Amino acid sequence: MNQEEDINKNLELNKVYLGNCIEVMKTFPQNSIACCITDPPYNYEFIGHKWSDSEVQRRTERVKDSKTMVKNIPYGSGLAGGVRNARWYERNRNNDLDYMKWCQLWTDQLFRICKAGAPVAVFNSNRSIAHVQIALENSGFYTRDVLVYRRNSGIPRGLNLEKKLEKMGHQDASKWNGWHSAFRNEWEAVVIVQKPLINNYWETIQKTHVGVFKTVNNDGSFQSNIFENLSKKDKSENYSHCTVKPLGLIKKIIDTLVPVHEKNIVFDPFSGSGTTLVAAQELGFDYVGIEIEENYIPIINQRLDESKNNILSNPTLF
Ligand SMILES: C[S@@+](CC[C@H](N)C(=O)[O-])C[C@H]1O[C@@H](n2cnc3c(N)ncnc32)[C@H](O)[C@@H]1O
Repeated sequence: MNQEEDINKNLELNKVYLGNCIEVMKTFPQNSIACCITDPPYNYEFIGHKWSDSEVQRRTERVKDSKTMVKNIPYGSGLAGGVRNARWYERNRNNDLDYMKWCQLWTDQLFRICKAGAPVAVFNSNRSIAHVQIALENSGFYTRDVLVYRRNSGIPRGLNLEKKLEKMGHQDASKWNGWHSAFRNEWEAVVIVQKPLINNYWETIQKTHVGVFKTVNNDGSFQSNIFENLSKKDKSENYSHCTVKPLGLIKKIIDTLVPVHEKNIVFDPFSGSGTTLVAAQELGFDYVGIEIEENYIPIINQRLDESKNNILSNPTLF
């Protein structure tokens, strides 16, 4: 695309756009985003990439009182029991291929609107992080790392073989004590990619104000690629959305990836309840978000307003 084609494109700052990010990003000017932190749908089998709020609510409601399910994550992560015949694997594979095609559509647009050196951090499930990473690379991004966000929790999911056999009436079920179909999931993957530099780091930083990571922690230690011991999410942080990320974690990632500069815009094309946007605002960045689900827009705007009021009344905290 040449400069003339781009001239009619417009980016309103400190706003969340309602719509499909694949279409909305087409209206943004190229080379305008300094950093993207995002958490797209994880391709849970019932939801694929098409997020349906009513289906999410229905499933969340169904497991609300369960003692074994993770309450705020929708059921359907591919770990449940059930028939595993050739048809199941074929459907699963087709779902993955469909997801990869869809990822390519948004990663292509994201690449166009990022500045040279811009870091992009994408959360995903351990099963499907590679699918997103390959789409990002196919669009032109260069992979820098895969961060581990260590949650120090994680309830065992999947099939408990002993319990299953007990239910089926097997006398020797206890022989299978401790055997499950999946590990306890204690970490989340965050792939970090970067739009190619202009020749080298220093030339890029001078031109686009991004490119290197802040690696010194408050206690003087060097930041590793494992993010842990960060403040846990408070229950009050759920904001009627089932996949809210902890604000402290997102602030730490932004602070690590992008220097504060008047021209550095933080972006989230899958805003959800707006955690990335609130974190960016509290760190002093301009931000832009997109969210397809109309119901979430008032939640995002309310969180942004509340955080702005906190900043005004406690400026030293931020
Ligand atoms: C996993 S949630 C993000 C949650 C967010 N990290 C938070 O802390 O609240 C993904 C969000 O992407 C939205 N979404 C799904 N497809 C989209 C699309 N094509 N364009 C924009 N938003 C989309 C969903 O409605 C959902 O709110």
